[in-house]
Amino acid sequence: MNHVPAVAAPQRLRVEHLPVGDALGVGTPTPRLSWVVPDAPPGWTQTAYEVRVARRLPASEAHVAQARVEGEGQLFVPWPFPALRSRERAEVQVRVVGDQGASDWSEPLVVEAGLLHPDDWSASIARPPAFETRPSGLRRPPLLRRTFEIEGAVIQARLYLSAHGLAEAELNGSRVGDDALTPGWTVYPKRLRYATYDVTADVAPGPNAIGVWLGDGWWRGKVGFDGGAVDVYGTELGLIAQLEVVTDDGRVTTIVSDDRWAAAPSPILESGLYEGETFDATLVPPGWSAAGFDDDAWSAVAAEPIDASVLVAPEGPPVRCTEELAPIARELLPDGTWLLDFGQNASGRLRLTLRGAAAGTRVTVRHAEVLQDGRLCRRPLREAASEDTYVCAAGDQTWEPRFTLHGFRYAEVSGWDGPLEADDVVARVYHSDLERIGWFTCSDPLVNKLHENVVWSMRSNFVDLPTDCPQRDERLGWTGDIAAFAPTAAFLADCTGMLTGWLADLALEQERVGTVPYYVPYVPLGFWADAHPIALWGDAAVIVPWVLYQHTGDVDVLARQYGSIRTWVDQVLGLVGPDDVWDTGLQLGDWLDPAAPPEDPGQARTDRYLVATAYAAQSARLAGEVATLLGHHDDAARYAAAAERLRAGFRRRWVREGGLMADDAQTAYALALELGLLEGDERAVAASRLAQLVDKAEGRIATGFAGTPAVAPALTSGGHVDEAYRLLLQTECPSWLYQVVSGATTTWERWDSLLPDGTVNPGNMTSFNHYALGAVADWLHRSVAGLAPAAPGYRQFLVAPRPGPGITSAAASHVTPYGRASVSWHVADETLTVDVTVPVGTSATIDIPGHPASTVGHGDHHVEVAYPG
Ligand code: BGC
Repeated sequence: MNHVPAVAAPQRLRVEHLPVGDALGVGTPTPRLSWVVPDAPPGWTQTAYEVRVARRLPASEAHVAQARVEGEGQLFVPWPFPALRSRERAEVQVRVVGDQGASDWSEPLVVEAGLLHPDDWSASIARPPAFETRPSGLRRPPLLRRTFEIEGAVIQARLYLSAHGLAEAELNGSRVGDDALTPGWTVYPKRLRYATYDVTADVAPGPNAIGVWLGDGWWRGKVGFDGGAVDVYGTELGLIAQLEVVTDDGRVTTIVSDDRWAAAPSPILESGLYEGETFDATLVPPGWSAAGFDDDAWSAVAAEPIDASVLVAPEGPPVRCTEELAPIARELLPDGTWLLDFGQNASGRLRLTLRGAAAGTRVTVRHAEVLQDGRLCRRPLREAASEDTYVCAAGDQTWEPRFTLHGFRYAEVSGWDGPLEADDVVARVYHSDLERIGWFTCSDPLVNKLHENVVWSMRSNFVDLPTDCPQRDERLGWTGDIAAFAPTAAFLADCTGMLTGWLADLALEQERVGTVPYYVPYVPLGFWADAHPIALWGDAAVIVPWVLYQHTGDVDVLARQYGSIRTWVDQVLGLVGPDDVWDTGLQLGDWLDPAAPPEDPGQARTDRYLVATAYAAQSARLAGEVATLLGHHDDAARYAAAAERLRAGFRRRWVREGGLMADDAQTAYALALELGLLEGDERAVAASRLAQLVDKAEGRIATGFAGTPAVAPALTSGGHVDEAYRLLLQTECPSWLYQVVSGATTTWERWDSLLPDGTVNPGNMTSFNHYALGAVADWLHRSVAGLAPAAPGYRQFLVAPRPGPGITSAAASHVTPYGRASVSWHVADETLTVDVTVPVGTSATIDIPGHPASTVGHGDHHVEVAYPG
């Protein structure tokens, strides 16, 4: 008889925080492994795991090894074998062992090391000459190419690609990869990413050619507002490429970027992330990236040595097209312009199919988030023209720009009088290709739409780095926005790899400019040209790693950021005055409190130094917890004491006897309650005053970036669930659902980006796609549906739904590091029914009104309690 294992084979085997199933070009020689045990008998626990590996270097024999490790480890377990060498490929399988024996082996995961040492790079930077400068001031980018010969059958080929600028490669006439805006935006002088592609199928014996498109991107293109900055990292574009081809005779042919390449002006005449792209299809040299093309007339390129120590492998997935949207409406306006509505605000670009075009026809695409008087409203884009121009070749053709993105729902296509059918225009949505891991739904369709909008704003702004907005001349890695939104983001999508990379940049910029800058990467711009420490924004240095640790259980994230956390908190402590409050210097405070005047968004109801001190106390406390976890006991004691001092200072300055606050504002109460700054009975007094304020405002929100994540949780934990629901369900301005009933498809920057009279807010900072105010979704997940981590990585989680008036059912599910957890509840016939799924390896504490709290192990659980409603 066959032995049937008691426990199912592990799934979702992965390394580090890379996407499940994608481990090509891994940047560490000892990648940590994690997996999920999808199913096990009740009460099963893992007592050991085994890993087996078949590993080989290119063109050498495979070598097999197996390791057994006792214990429950299943997340980020150390690589149990000798370190991988550069390019080494390992087929890894895992099985888990419990009392009743071992599971089957998991499906294999192929892990391949990237180029781990600077010496692995023989490439130089290929620097093409400068070509035309266009009347617009934009510089025409180059194409680069070279041919090469391969002798023998190809058994493996890899392309390692990076650039000063943006790059897209072709081999023998075909596009390599499906990523966009490679290598993304990092602190280039210190960390420049390279992508690894498996191009085995694209290289053949005999003559071959490689061609590369380059674009300005963040390297030398315009970034930022108030005119922006150009040439931030350099004036010249450059290609960094290393193609390694292994043939059946065991030889490795390496083709690198150097002075053997040729360059020519690109058919891309102009290209800018904000400006858009101008492309002349009549100038595409036919066959330019294939062998046999005559490049005698092309220009020579210079080779410049590269500091390969800055080249790093990605920690998360690249930017890709993840969805295509067809127009929901198309209208030919009297002036011959097509007005297109894609029904969804998003980051992306249009793909156009034009049939029977006359060569030289100029077609222009403009983009906007909203319409005003039936036409695109482009004022909120400020200086980002967001305009793509395509000069047609003769005949039928399809085009999409390469090195630009736009934030838009609407587009106007002008200059085209041929046919334009619905499938001739597609909005292609681009962002970091993060795995969706969190979902929420409830009985109220407007709340569901709000949640969907939050997801879309996350998608639109997780574009290689966490940005504020995808549309105007900004799109910067604003630290305060992600500090507010990180818990929501970590629930919705697997963003840890992307954010750990960004945190590495945060630490580098912090060191370079002497504080955590307003945005990362940092470019001095206008008012923001001097980096000052400011609360919430700078606290991202602490909050983001802490949130990632809570969601993933990866203590390494904290270890890597510890220097940055410490430096930030020490700097803040140095700014705290004798009264133990942080009450000096520039502060954005409760940015975008709806009562703030449009031109002065920091002029909030809550004292900006109250906000600063509250966040300082939280950061000191968290730094203490991090220090404890990492075994830095002196620091732990020092930060815990500092947190206490700040708490005392906060209380002396802003808490009145009994628990009322000096600033009688939603944010003041929400922060005092949520950040643990009150004591004993004060909490109840403060919570009921907050509830009164909400009632007085008839459920209208009165918080900005700082207070918004805290207000509904503070009401809920203070026992005022009804008022929290009142805030949630309000549809008058300002409120979350005001945006929804006004037709929003993403969350807005301002509560009233669209004014109640239907006009666009006249403020010069009016985006319809900012995620910060969507931070309420964290509360939807935790308290409306009732699913929240209680121990790092969801090893334990809390099922604490708090049903409230107006919502009769809700559900959330989340692919935790251990597998999918879910909660769903509904109220009917005076009964509250709750269903919970607990993944193997975890336990859940079920805490529902009217029911004694209980802790349950993995499996499905069903609870019914009387609920008079
Ligand atoms: C950005 C923000 C940012 C803020 C800080 C704005 O222009 O869009 O979201 O946090 O500036 O002042």
